[in-house]
Amino acid sequence: MDPSQDNPIVRFKAFFWALAVFGFFGVVLGIVALSQSKQPETLEDLAATTRYQNREKIESAQRANFSYKELEAGKTVQVKPQDVFAHLGQQLAATKPSAVEKPEQVIPGSAAAKAIEEAAKNAAPVTVVETDPSAPIDPAVMDAGKIEYALCQACHGADGAGVPGLAPPLAGSEWVVGPVENPIRITLRGLGGPIQVKGVDYNLPAPMMAVAHLSDQQIAAVLTYVRNSFGNSASAVTADQVKAFRGEVGLPALQASELKTPK
Ligand code: HEC
Repeated sequence: MDPSQDNPIVRFKAFFWALAVFGFFGVVLGIVALSQSKQPETLEDLAATTRYQNREKIESAQRANFSYKELEAGKTVQVKPQDVFAHLGQQLAATKPSAVEKPEQVIPGSAAAKAIEEAAKNAAPVTVVETDPSAPIDPAVMDAGKIEYALCQACHGADGAGVPGLAPPLAGSEWVVGPVENPIRITLRGLGGPIQVKGVDYNLPAPMMAVAHLSDQQIAAVLTYVRNSFGNSASAVTADQVKAFRGEVGLPALQASELKTPK
């Protein structure tokens, strides 16, 4: 037998080699695991994470409560899982996200949000040709727009006169009847910060949120409606004009200074 094999110092050295090799693989695995763990970026991902966490909590509560219970020393009985809890767990696991959690609604500051901002910075500026203002307005589009206006009405009022402390007026607003890109971009991105409407300065406590979940058709209809109601008169808005600005969805809310100055 090779005497060096029985040398405690040699065996000790081998132990440290083994330790170093294990340690090395541990670190590599750790780095791989870290690089794979993904932060949720869309509201849908976030909601899914929460759903799985809830499900895990319910299931562990179920396991703790409904497995075996010791009623008195030495007497253990199986407690039947209660159907209602099982049902609840199944419901949660199968729950689909609500309509508000759309893929385009990204978490501010997330990598997805930054990618959208980066893409917008590099994109060529969008311009749209205004519809002929003398063209007649389609009554069917006005009817469709009136239905969608129910959403805007909550803040801007049934007659578009605005609501003090909540939202400025749409009736007679230069932002509504001016360049068509202004109301389109406001609807797709929301609007915040100080704004002057009809010579009055507004600085409302809460911004307008984006209403981008409506289709191009619906946005075109509601904007045609507000541009031709409450005494307003302006060219119709088309779905194609709305579509041209879709790339901005997901960007932070606009400031009035970023819009085209209306006459
Ligand atoms: C949650 C309340 C709210 C809803 C709903 C809402 N807005 Fe607004 N809107 C505001 C606020 C607040 C402002 C002012 C933003 C600012 O501070 O710059 C505003 C501003 C505007 C402006 C520019 C200023 C003006 O008065 O002309 C337009 C145009 C507009 N909204 C259109 C719409 C349309 C169209 C809808 C429906 C699709 C809508 N808004 C839904 C709150 C709302």
